[in-house]
Amino acid sequence: MIRKITIAIDGYSSTGKSTVAKQLADYLDYIYVDTGAMYRAVTYFAMQNGFISTTHFDKEGLIASLDEISIGFEKAQPFETADVLLNGINIESEIRTLEVSSFVSPIATVPEVRRKLVYQQQILGKLKGVAMDGRDIGTVVFPDAELKIFMNASATQRAQRRYEELLKRGDKVLYQEVYDNVVERDRIDTTREDSPLIMAEDAIEIDNSEMNLEDQFHIILQLAKDRIAGRI
Ligand code: DC
Repeated sequence: MIRKITIAIDGYSSTGKSTVAKQLADYLDYIYVDTGAMYRAVTYFAMQNGFISTTHFDKEGLIASLDEISIGFEKAQPFETADVLLNGINIESEIRTLEVSSFVSPIATVPEVRRKLVYQQQILGKLKGVAMDGRDIGTVVFPDAELKIFMNASATQRAQRRYEELLKRGDKVLYQEVYDNVVERDRIDTTREDSPLIMAEDAIEIDNSEMNLEDQFHIILQLAKDRIAGRI
């Protein structure tokens, strides 16, 4: 039987972490877990229940309600990527807006939120054979992951990619607001006290500013194959 490993893909927002994690999971027949979607689902819950807005953040109220939040994943079709569910309701489209992006980083600073989600992520990846992307996968969730990738790209490249994605969805956004959101999320994600975004010591850094998706996939797939075979 082929050995299964844990693949942790961390990095800055909109670096294409989920794209490559999905490609790896499909190729290797692994489970793919988008942990950003889990933080986004909690954010959507907080917005819907009046715990966060542009003028206030009721952290204590959110913490007291965490037991009411159940996050799951569901595939609409067997070969499609799983959508995120909040209390059984598919909110995949709702969590991808710029509004959710603007509240998610403050929500992700709350240690109680992180504890709940990290626990669930560790269960999802317990049996290995998982490609998980996020900010703290190689440092906190799976510090023993066999392969850790840390992805980076210039802020302008990342904002441009995200802007195009939002336009494709039909969202009315300006490039400048997307750029500002990317920079602000970087700031909050790297400076928060609990599990800040940092590169694990044993991670391999990939800057994909000038790399196409196919080249990037083949480089990371080769690393994964080497780890599976125990070559490095
Ligand atoms: O990957 P993403 O852009 O969908 O993530 C949204 C936010 O969630 C990100 O700005 C920070 C937070 N996040 C986190 O703190 N830890 C993770 N493992 C994943 C995401």
